[in-house]
Amino acid sequence: MNLKGVQLTWLGHATFRIDTPGGRTIIIDPWIMNNPACPPFEKKLKHVDVLLCTHGHGDHIGDAVEVIKEHNPQVVGMPELCGWLEKKGAKQTLIMNKGGTQKVGDIKVTMVHADHSCGIQDGDQLIYGGEACGYVVEFENGVKIYHAGDTNVFGDMAIIRELYAPEIVMLPIGDHFTMGPREAAYACNLLKPKTAIPMHFGTFPVLTGTPSDFQKLVPGVEVVTMPVDDYLYSMLPKRDEVLAEMEEYASKHSIPIVGPAVAPGLYQLALMINAKTVFELGSAIGYSTIWWARAVGKEGRVVYTDGDSKNAERARGYFERAGVADRITLHTGDALEVLSEQKEQFDIIFNDVDKEDYPRVLRLVSPRLRKGGLFITDNVLWSGRVAQKNPKQPQTKAILEFNRLLYDSGDFFTTILPIRDGVAVALKK
Ligand code: NI
Ligand code: MN
Repeated sequence: MNLKGVQLTWLGHATFRIDTPGGRTIIIDPWIMNNPACPPFEKKLKHVDVLLCTHGHGDHIGDAVEVIKEHNPQVVGMPELCGWLEKKGAKQTLIMNKGGTQKVGDIKVTMVHADHSCGIQDGDQLIYGGEACGYVVEFENGVKIYHAGDTNVFGDMAIIRELYAPEIVMLPIGDHFTMGPREAAYACNLLKPKTAIPMHFGTFPVLTGTPSDFQKLVPGVEVVTMPVDDYLYSMLPKRDEVLAEMEEYASKHSIPIVGPAVAPGLYQLALMINAKTVFELGSAIGYSTIWWARAVGKEGRVVYTDGDSKNAERARGYFERAGVADRITLHTGDALEVLSEQKEQFDIIFNDVDKEDYPRVLRLVSPRLRKGGLFITDNVLWSGRVAQKNPKQPQTKAILEFNRLLYDSGDFFTTILPIRDGVAVALKK
């Protein structure tokens, strides 16, 4: 998950790896090599700058000693827990306690309450590890996250919300040793996050809570389930220099592009119907445009449209470097207007404009698409908001209307592919 340049990766259970824009790597709760929920390709850590430890249980600091030996990171935790880690070889401990904030390199770390126990099992001895805690982390770019550690729900989460207002919260939902979905949903009422990342579930059979049970209870919160996505992204082949640079630029500047999981699918669809002409509504910096341009080949043609002339200028530079500039016609202005002026029929029309315009786009498309052509639309699942009970956001409502109209349309045969944010593929009959 990319948060304006901060890369957040769930390593399974309660363990997260955070890569900051400054190139530093932070691990929250280092249970990695022996963590059965950690994907094999994530078990080898390249380097670690900081460890944040919530409490002394083995499923949270089980691999701390090994990570410390290999990478000598700074270690943040309770004095008692850090004292034990020092005995095991930690050289750079940054002890703190609840309510305190300290700057650790490029991040600000606040230790907050957690309602849980905290003994350390050291061989056959059980050692006092201080108390269990959670962390609020603020990054240089202003993004704030809250990792609750292992905890029950507690009323002071309202204080966390009022003092720090983290937009992303990582909450245990597994039940038995921590909150289950019911309690985690209550925690969301107190924390009011934009996004919740469920953790500490499914690793052992007793951790029965599931993200979908949780999501049902918090329809207004985006519940992220990352393992499948992370797996998909880990499978993708390397992109060339221009595309890789565009992906980086888009993530740094929060420019919505279809990204490397969807784009090859678009390319594939174009090849499958031997498309030679593509009309794109809402091209931004031209990432998908380049994939289309490569798919249609030398004789093909792609129409780029975007409302922002700065985007178009940047896109033009990329098209030249990607060697496809001669196949692309650029239009700046209202994409729907440009489409409505088209006299020819295209092989593919790709729709990624402002979501409120989706229903209007559908009315324009059919006459401008050849029989057997594809009408493809991005973001039709809208981060899962289409499944909300009473959606209030106008974009969500527009997408719901659009999807309904598309499925009901006699002109198209439609399937929604749930890849990334959902891609609707409609074949013109
Ligand atoms: Ni625990
Ligand atoms: Mn999009």
